[in-house]
Amino acid sequence: MEIELPEIVREMLGEEYVVVSRSGISIGKMLDSVELLSMGAEAYIFKAKFMGVDAIVKWRFPKPYMPKELDNQLRRYRTELEAKIIWKALSIGVKVPIPLFTDLEDCLIIMTYVNGENLRDVVGVIDNEKLCNLTRTVGFYTGVLHKNNIVHGDLTTSNVIVDRDDVYIIDFGLSTISKRVEDKAIDIHIFFRSVESAHSRFEELMKRCFVDGYKDAVGEDAANRVLKTVRNIRLRGRYIAERKLRSEWIL
Ligand SMILES: Nc1ncnc2c1ncn2[C@@H]1O[C@H](COP(=O)(O)OP(=O)(O)O)[C@@H](O)[C@H]1O
Ligand SMILES: [Mg+2]
Repeated sequence: MEIELPEIVREMLGEEYVVVSRSGISIGKMLDSVELLSMGAEAYIFKAKFMGVDAIVKWRFPKPYMPKELDNQLRRYRTELEAKIIWKALSIGVKVPIPLFTDLEDCLIIMTYVNGENLRDVVGVIDNEKLCNLTRTVGFYTGVLHKNNIVHGDLTTSNVIVDRDDVYIIDFGLSTISKRVEDKAIDIHIFFRSVESAHSRFEELMKRCFVDGYKDAVGEDAANRVLKTVRNIRLRGRYIAERKLRSEWIL
């Protein structure tokens, strides 16, 4: 399917930037080699070169079925929040792509490209020890985010990129700022659910290693409080948890 590039991307394809070096001036294109990587319900993801750097362009496209004003407001709000939360995550030591350019008018974030594979695709390919270490890091980063009251909102194995031994958390498009134990527990519940549905053979190992990493970040007591709430959410059942998720995801 042909996707029409957003106006701002088309502009940047023509724009040139100037690098002044001691030996003279060199000129390059702002954006180059744009290719469509993924089409989500909210955003299109392009891979491109941005001023010579491998980058991802995340564009929240206008939704024709939504009232225009509301759609614009929501897309702008989400783009701004995502960029702010990525910056915050960076500053607290969580590995995330680095934002290179944000445009709130066109609802676009350009960020560094992480050269790796989704955790989802490497489970079952790598050995158990490595899988445990990677999942422990995901748990650790989740704990660091939660300590800073950042709730990821869509913590699945598709939103984790593995670059050799490094783990990057991506897709903060549904993130929120919240102190509530319940919201943090929902993050973990979503991660557990993604492990159960996509990687059931490794469920026990991945949950255990995730929890170990989470405890490393927040401490035993705080972790146990959140994990108790995770158990309650699961006891209350799918229906209520998901109804809550849906109502929050609308924002
Ligand atoms: N910074 C990045 N580096 C490498 N790949 C990325 C990056 N951001 C997104 N991707 C790829 O694009 C996919 C979709 O991006 P994501 O931000 O998760 O959007 P969506 O909201 O559509 O899930 C990811 O699963 C990943 O494979
Ligand atoms: Mg995603």
